[in-house]
Amino acid sequence: MITIAILVAAGRGERLGATRPKAFLELGGRSMIERSAEAFQAAAGVDGIVAVVPVEEVERARRLLAPCARLQAVVPGGERRQDSVQAGLTAAQAGPDDVVLIHDAARPFVEPALIEAVAAAAREHGAALPVLALVDTVKRVRDGQVLETLDRGELFGAQTPQGFRLGLLREALASAVARGLTLTDECLAVELAGQPVRAVPGSARNRKITTPADLEWAEALLRREVA
Ligand code: CTP
Ligand code: MG
Repeated sequence: MITIAILVAAGRGERLGATRPKAFLELGGRSMIERSAEAFQAAAGVDGIVAVVPVEEVERARRLLAPCARLQAVVPGGERRQDSVQAGLTAAQAGPDDVVLIHDAARPFVEPALIEAVAAAAREHGAALPVLALVDTVKRVRDGQVLETLDRGELFGAQTPQGFRLGLLREALASAVARGLTLTDECLAVELAGQPVRAVPGSARNRKITTPADLEWAEALLRREVA
């Protein structure tokens, strides 16, 4: 059984207001896609890496990721995140019992140990993701009116990498596509297919760089680590 990582990096970074595709923004001199690839290169038990990038960035990504010995392919992504995931799955050299780890390149500080924990849980349970407990009390609000307060003890934020047996994921995605659903993450497809998904502890470092405030957080993190 092999394990292939798929780095989805084909987004535009609109919320960041970025002038170039977000995954190619540098943090402390290295782009987010390089940092993410390095983490999967360092993790035990990852056999290959597929990067999915905007079509005009394929050549640049090949250059940037050339030092990454596990790199298998760099392919162009699609309109929606799920289209980019599909492009990565098509390029992955893997069979139905193999494991794929789908990761947002916009989470450049993912730790190798977290990758290994997700991969192990996916091998054992078929589908797994890292989750982080929410810190704020969570309210359901509609039209400015609080409807209810949710039990925070059962609420977690979903992170990536999300790991799956490839056969299970392909079937779940096909049935979600057949129902015309737009997916926010891959685990949702497996959940909708009625299959179990294992949650493992995520990490605060593994934050997604989405807004300018996230970028400031990342720069402060790097300053602390250099100091
Ligand atoms: N992604 C992708 N293909 C898309 C959209 C998103 O590969 N069509 C990737 C992004 O590159 C990112 C991850 O999915 O690594 C998570 O998406 P998000 O944080 O939303 O990134 P963007 O879509 O780039 O940002 P925004 O939504 O603000 O434009
Ligand atoms: Mg997006």
